[in-house]
Amino acid sequence: MGVVFLGIMSHAPGLTGRIGQAPAADREAVFEGFAQMRARLEVARPDLLVVVAAEHFANFFMDNMPAYALGMADRYEGPIEDEQWLRIPRTVVPGNAAASRAIIQHLIHEVDLAYCEEWKFDHGIMVPLHYLTPDYDVPIVPVNINCQQPPFTPLARAWAFGQALRRACDALPQRVALLGTGGISHWPGSTQMGRINEDFDREFLRRWTCNDRDALLAYADEEVLREAGHGGIEIRTLVAIAAAAGGGSPGELLFYHGTPAFSIGSCAAVMPVLPTGPARAFSREGGHVAVPDPEAPV
Ligand SMILES: [Fe+2]
Repeated sequence: MGVVFLGIMSHAPGLTGRIGQAPAADREAVFEGFAQMRARLEVARPDLLVVVAAEHFANFFMDNMPAYALGMADRYEGPIEDEQWLRIPRTVVPGNAAASRAIIQHLIHEVDLAYCEEWKFDHGIMVPLHYLTPDYDVPIVPVNINCQQPPFTPLARAWAFGQALRRACDALPQRVALLGTGGISHWPGSTQMGRINEDFDREFLRRWTCNDRDALLAYADEEVLREAGHGGIEIRTLVAIAAAAGGGSPGELLFYHGTPAFSIGSCAAVMPVLPTGPARAFSREGGHVAVPDPEAPV
């Protein structure tokens, strides 16, 4: 069947852990926004949810940090954090090892990636699941892009990864939802925690919803670190989903709400699932290149 849903959303731990401390209006904006996202996902009726996340030294550390990693298990546990702090009870989340293996075997022709038979989900995956599939009734394939410690995979490589992931998921018999979670601007665990750069966030979301490949890949890490903090490096997960959508297909912002109590601007956005064809083949540099139309007059 292949990909039936493409979306992105934020995943900060405050969105569950400190939800009760926010003013009611902010709380309701988040609940309503994520409820819209959940409704869109349920309409797509996925039987596999591939979550492209940026975890936070929960499973991967500097002794061995893969740029890209996929889970390959029939079950996962989460959250790895304290349950009371995150306000999400620890549970077992179903996976699908066979589907994971199929994706990996497809990806490995194009991407050097790690794969893991054990993985404890942190808030980067558990917060989105809390809002989108709170009954944990859709098997998960977790995907991680290192956004924690440089050297970071270049944005062009994250784009190429997203393209390859789309091809791999389209080859599956399942109805696949692709979800990216991360950023946008935030400064977790620093003296600037709570700061939100709403201008940066809205401009990024403009570029994302336009699916403007060149504009998305134009961000330099130095600019992101300055304007969006080290949490902004997580835009790689969101860029990968734009790439999976094929480039050029306009998306829809469901909501954006900046709330210092959550230390992030909360958001959710979706893109239509359009067919991708040979015109989006890989270039050697990782971007897509136009393939000559064999039917075109010469
Ligand atoms: Fe994060």
